[in-house]
Amino acid sequence: MKTRTFTSRLLRVIRRLNNMGNSRLGRTIQRSYIGRRSGCSQPVLITLLVLSAFVFIFFQMASLIPRKPAPLTFAWAASAVRDIGVYVRPACSTALLQPPTLCRAAPFVLIMVPSAVNNSRERDTIRRTWGQWAGKDLKVLLALDAKAAKKTNKTTRKPLNVLTRHALPPRRARVVFLLGAVRGEQPVTPAVLEESRVFGDVVVEDFIDSYTNLTLKTVFMLKWVQQHCAKAQYVIKVDDDIFLNVPNLQHSLLNKTLSKPPLLAGNLICGARPIHNQWSKWYTPRHMFREDKYPNYLSGTGYVLSGDLVKPLLDAALTTPYFHLEDVFLTGICAKKIGVRPSDNIGFSYQPRANSACVYKEVVMGHEVVPVEMARLWNMLNQPKLVAKCKPAKKSQIRSYIPKCKWR
Ligand SMILES: *[C@@H]1O[C@H](CO)[C@@H](O)[C@H](O)[C@H]1NC(C)=O
Ligand SMILES: *[C@@H]1O[C@H](CO)[C@@H](O)[C@H](O)[C@H]1NC(C)=O
Ligand SMILES: *[C@@H]1O[C@H](CO)[C@@H](O)[C@H](O)[C@H]1NC(C)=O
Ligand SMILES: *[C@@H]1O[C@H](CO)[C@@H](O)[C@H](O)[C@H]1NC(C)=O
Repeated sequence: MKTRTFTSRLLRVIRRLNNMGNSRLGRTIQRSYIGRRSGCSQPVLITLLVLSAFVFIFFQMASLIPRKPAPLTFAWAASAVRDIGVYVRPACSTALLQPPTLCRAAPFVLIMVPSAVNNSRERDTIRRTWGQWAGKDLKVLLALDAKAAKKTNKTTRKPLNVLTRHALPPRRARVVFLLGAVRGEQPVTPAVLEESRVFGDVVVEDFIDSYTNLTLKTVFMLKWVQQHCAKAQYVIKVDDDIFLNVPNLQHSLLNKTLSKPPLLAGNLICGARPIHNQWSKWYTPRHMFREDKYPNYLSGTGYVLSGDLVKPLLDAALTTPYFHLEDVFLTGICAKKIGVRPSDNIGFSYQPRANSACVYKEVVMGHEVVPVEMARLWNMLNQPKLVAKCKPAKKSQIRSYIPKCKWR
């Protein structure tokens, strides 16, 4: 089909060329095109055939290239209520499921991990890997470590916790997974209920979990901490694709030169501008944010705050119009409102790190770590001989840049 229309179009062009005064070229082409009949020169004919073949192939290929996708539909309508209190209902207890005893003794660090209902594999991997640093009481952990060390001496079996730099977290840490509801399903699915029964580390809050609702998830997180774990000295929020070096986190938090409360720290991002491209994951319609720059904020992949900031940040969130990028909202807009400057900590990075135990031994966190990699890192970090051979990580491996920030 395509060739035929192409051919007839070509013929028409040739004819037009012929009719135009400059007919020599036109005639030549026409003659060579219908070469067999007029017995004209073969090379021109072949050239034309090859040319049309190319054009044909080009059109075929062009039809294979996928069309530009439609823009992501932005799911927060201009007319939707932006008063967060309406969704979060600060005066009520809205947790549909929560661990009964997890915060009975105040943790030094409460590790909040927002997760999707379907990500049970990610949660399991965290429980089996770096969550081990936090899941058990320190006493149990120390006992396990001593037992393992004894075994090492006898049998050369690998001990449990042997990071060379900071082998054990010095204080109590707890991991809590935060879930919402999946649209169209019952808010607490049987699988989640069972998971919570077995591990006692799941909170389900009463809202629909979706990308544009992530800010709601963070505010629900603050609310839950405020209502049920207010004595936690520090709260860290990390995604479920993060490898968190809990001992290193705790040692940086214990170092008063780095972390005087009020503390809000992570990977600082400065001078970022709203993205008005509708195809972007970070698309921001102008009705959601009018200024030309975001306040300086911390990457949402992981940030830590001192317990004394939970209530002020929650209060600020409840009186600020909803903005869908949770990190910009909480650590930028709300922090600015209460006069707290987020600070940069080189142990945090939103750029994926090399999946190397020698790097993770030195930092606080890294992201985009899939479950298989998480297990591998954990296993490697727990092999003293391997870790002992690590050269000190280069600065560029830790993080290749330091943000340059202006404060307004
Ligand atoms: C979660 O998994 C279930 C079953 O595997 C599937 O039906 C559902 O669509 C998934 N939900 C999401 C939000 O991905
Ligand atoms: C094994 O035990 C001996 C004596 O108790 C001790 O000196 C040595 O450091 C231990 N080795 C390891 C690897 O723990
Ligand atoms: C966000 O959550 C609220 C409360 O559950 C719900 O009414 C709304 O539909 C959700 N929005 C999106 C875009 O999922
Ligand atoms: C605390 O941090 C400072 C600055 O990085 C460092 O020089 C010091 O050695 C740290 N102290 C401890 C106890 O880790």
